Amino acid sequence: MAKVKSKWVCQNCGYESAGYLGKCPECSSWGSFVEESQQVSENTAMLANDIKPSLITDIQVGKEIRVSTNISEFDRILGGGLVQGSIVLIAGDPGIGKSTILLQTSGGLASQGKKILYVSAEESAGQLKLRADRLGIVNENLYIYPQTNLECVKAQIEELQPDFVVIDSIQAIYSRTVTSSAGSVSQIRECCNILMQIAKTKNITVLVIGHVTKDGNIAGPKVLEHMVDTVISFEGDKYKSYRMLRSMKNRFGNTSEVGIFEMSANGLKEVVNPNQLFLNERSQENIPGTAIIVTNEGTRPLLVEIQALVGATPYPSPRRVANGVDFSRLLQILAVLEKRVGLNLSKQDVYVNVMGGIDVDEPSADLGIALAIATCARDVVVDSQTVIIGEIGLSGEIHPVNNLEKRLNEAAMTGFKKAIIPYANKDITNPKIKTVPVKRLIDAISACISPQQE
Ligand SMILES: Nc1ncnc2c1ncn2[C@@H]1O[C@H](COP(=O)(O)OP(=O)(O)OP(=O)(O)O)[C@@H](O)[C@H]1O
Ligand SMILES: [Mg+2]
Repeated sequence: MAKVKSKWVCQNCGYESAGYLGKCPECSSWGSFVEESQQVSENTAMLANDIKPSLITDIQVGKEIRVSTNISEFDRILGGGLVQGSIVLIAGDPGIGKSTILLQTSGGLASQGKKILYVSAEESAGQLKLRADRLGIVNENLYIYPQTNLECVKAQIEELQPDFVVIDSIQAIYSRTVTSSAGSVSQIRECCNILMQIAKTKNITVLVIGHVTKDGNIAGPKVLEHMVDTVISFEGDKYKSYRMLRSMKNRFGNTSEVGIFEMSANGLKEVVNPNQLFLNERSQENIPGTAIIVTNEGTRPLLVEIQALVGATPYPSPRRVANGVDFSRLLQILAVLEKRVGLNLSKQDVYVNVMGGIDVDEPSADLGIALAIATCARDVVVDSQTVIIGEIGLSGEIHPVNNLEKRLNEAAMTGFKKAIIPYANKDITNPKIKTVPVKRLIDAISACISPQQE
């Protein structure tokens, strides 16, 4: 007979306590404790007692362990396809397109003859069918199962023996072994545990959709991210049509890989040349306060436009606004510009914006941000055919960056003629693009601005 335990669990981070607490000692959130009674699951203890340890040299691995999703951007993020028997978590904001991408993936897998069980805990079969019709998915191997109970799902997996299972979503599924409501920390943990056992023991790949909290973290306990093999976050501006898939944890591939998609009525489409997407709104004539940088998203270089606006402030203390770049990074760049370049910004408002709504959190963007601010303050322009790459140190020196070859190649392919690069990277050249190595921030400013402008 299973034991029944009761405990208080923080719904924000999963911290457990024997009694009620007003403030969570782990994540400092207030009023987040909920009483959850949990029956200690017996399946965990019973897990395959017949498995014996084996020598690493004796372990046989099947040849075809990765299966393509038929969506090449998704495959790239996964490290070359879905690994059989793995469990993948896809998390994202409401309405970003999580169900869409997994239904498209299911369609792609079904067309390769794989059997898929799509468990829809949030939408009815009819609603899913409407979406499938819109996406043009018709296949005999795709089973839609509107169900919220995990034990029923388990029974269906036994009966159908699918190759892939999609759970839409983990927050809407519940297990009878836990008495707390669906979406609570204990439920999520238990359901993920059961799904993990199914994946590992039956060699079924499980794709799980997860919600995110208000501050953008994956809802549920942190342990959820530890349990799964791959965590993929689905980002993007809901008001713009493009979406980004980013791998945050991957046991079978590179992390920080990014895939770019565009949302259309027919579903998510891969963006083959993302630079076109981010730069197409750019006016070709030179405007003070804009600079093009080459940021590195995973293994892919991406050209992004940085815009800055500098103007006299009407307020006692000037405003600094950063959109798409880290605020403290911006303050540091402003301090270096004041101290090492002699730019007086103490009475100026500074606004910095990354075009296209993406976040640039790479230090190699520093120089581009600094040049956008400096050119706007001096009312001069950076040549529109120049890209800027480099990290700025506190004494105004330019530090080297990684992956410069790939960045130069991408800039040359997009049609740029000149690149400002760190001096320490001066040996890296590209025949299609002129490189200008610079040691200090002040040199970079003079290299960008033509003498006629001064
Ligand atoms: N007819 C359409 N044309 C274009 N885009 C559409 C159309 N219908 C839906 N979409 C897009 O699909 C998105 C919803 O996708 P989806 O239902 O897959 O999101 P989700 O992440 O699963 O949402 P939820 O968190 O509510 O489950 C909408 O925000 C919209 O951008
Ligand atoms: Mg959905």
